Amino acid sequence: MTDKAHAELLEDVLSRYQDSTNPRLREITEAAIRHLHAFAEEVNLQRDEWFAGIQFLTATGQKCDDTRQEFILLSDTLGLSTLVEMLTHDGAEGSTENTVLGPFYVPGSPRRAKGESMLVDPDDGDRVVIRGRVTDRDGAPIAGATLDCWQNATAGFYAVQQPGFQSAANLRGVYETDPHGSYEIRTVRPVPYPIPSDGPAGDLLKAHGRGWMRPGHTHMWVRADGYKELITHVFDEQSDYLREDAVFGVRDSLVRRFAPDGDGELATTFDIVLDASPPSPAPLRPAPTR
Ligand code: BEZ
Ligand code: FE
Repeated sequence: MTDKAHAELLEDVLSRYQDSTNPRLREITEAAIRHLHAFAEEVNLQRDEWFAGIQFLTATGQKCDDTRQEFILLSDTLGLSTLVEMLTHDGAEGSTENTVLGPFYVPGSPRRAKGESMLVDPDDGDRVVIRGRVTDRDGAPIAGATLDCWQNATAGFYAVQQPGFQSAANLRGVYETDPHGSYEIRTVRPVPYPIPSDGPAGDLLKAHGRGWMRPGHTHMWVRADGYKELITHVFDEQSDYLREDAVFGVRDSLVRRFAPDGDGELATTFDIVLDASPPSPAPLRPAPTR
């Protein structure tokens, strides 16, 4: 095929979208078409290869159900979810960076008092404290902000992955900032764990010799009236896999060291800066995975 033939084909395809009445949909569709054509041309994509790709995408869709979103997992492992998070955060100079939501968020965590532990079940892990202030970009405290937190147990699993074995409320809790914008969370040290790898996204990782581990982290979904919602993690600086996160979610600004504080507890400070921007777009995941 000549370059001219491809250019004519692409022009013809794009021209069919020129009467679209939705400008943003048109922009996204046209860019997707241009990049898909360029991709096929770059690798000289052959029919059998594209059919294998279609079978892979079909299997990805078939793996999805009410609690499993394999396309998001694929997007996570390709770094696309993180790129979208970066683009969504763009322009919020000085505010805390967001990162992927992940499949293990479950709404309705119990409210917890400042300093309360969100550990409910027996666990051998190190006890740790995460404390800090929630402020706006000028440093003014935000009272009454909620921090919806979740993380895994020392065995490596989130409560939602082990119903009947872990208590549903284990290592989950909603904390609220006090009048000074301060919060304090007691928990266990989060541990590295594997992302779900028993589907096409995992098959692709394995086909390329990639790992499927994430470094230890505690998730936070921070909300305050008038501010953009923040979905983020605190990463343990001493965890393995910080540089090989299977989903590319680590941001240097979110990594913290746990060290003994004045009371002899292993503690870290994680101050949070919220951006007073327009309402947040919906997060990139509809339902928890089990
Ligand atoms: C998580 O951190 O819970 C997670 C994020 C993306 C994919 C799988 C797990
Ligand atoms: Fe996680």
